[in-house]
Amino acid sequence: MRKLVPMILAALLAAALWSADQATLDRGKKEEQQSCTPCHSLRLIHSQRLSRATWGKEIDKMAGWGTVVPDRDALLEYLVANYGDDKPVPPPAMSEDGTGKK
Ligand code: HEC
Repeated sequence: MRKLVPMILAALLAAALWSADQATLDRGKKEEQQSCTPCHSLRLIHSQRLSRATWGKEIDKMAGWGTVVPDRDALLEYLVANYGDDKPVPPPAMSEDGTGKK
């Protein structure tokens, strides 16, 4: 019993460190809307399922093309939480008649 409390505290701390809080995720979503929409649609981003490391590289790749990302940490947490490689891959967007228009 004496060992249980520190173990629970350690587990809670680890969980807190690993999962971003809602305020951070909200900031990340806002960051995405501001920084990631000038050149392409969000669909291009949201159709991906990437690991944390690959999302980081992806943000850096966009930064290399001049994208300014003031709240990079929040954006990364948001992308990992919603579009991580542990999430199911969404069905591709179909044009249906081949024109590319819905
Ligand atoms: C300066 C214009 C520009 C901005 C702003 C931009 N992107 Fe991109 N992005 C591109 C271009 C161009 C491509 C397609 C090039 C390619 O196929 O590699 C692309 C493609 C992508 C892809 C598809 C995978 C890939 O690498 O091709 C993802 C994911 C992506 N962007 C994420 C983001 C995110 C996240 C942001 C916001 C931080 C962002 N983009 C902002 C230009 C931009």
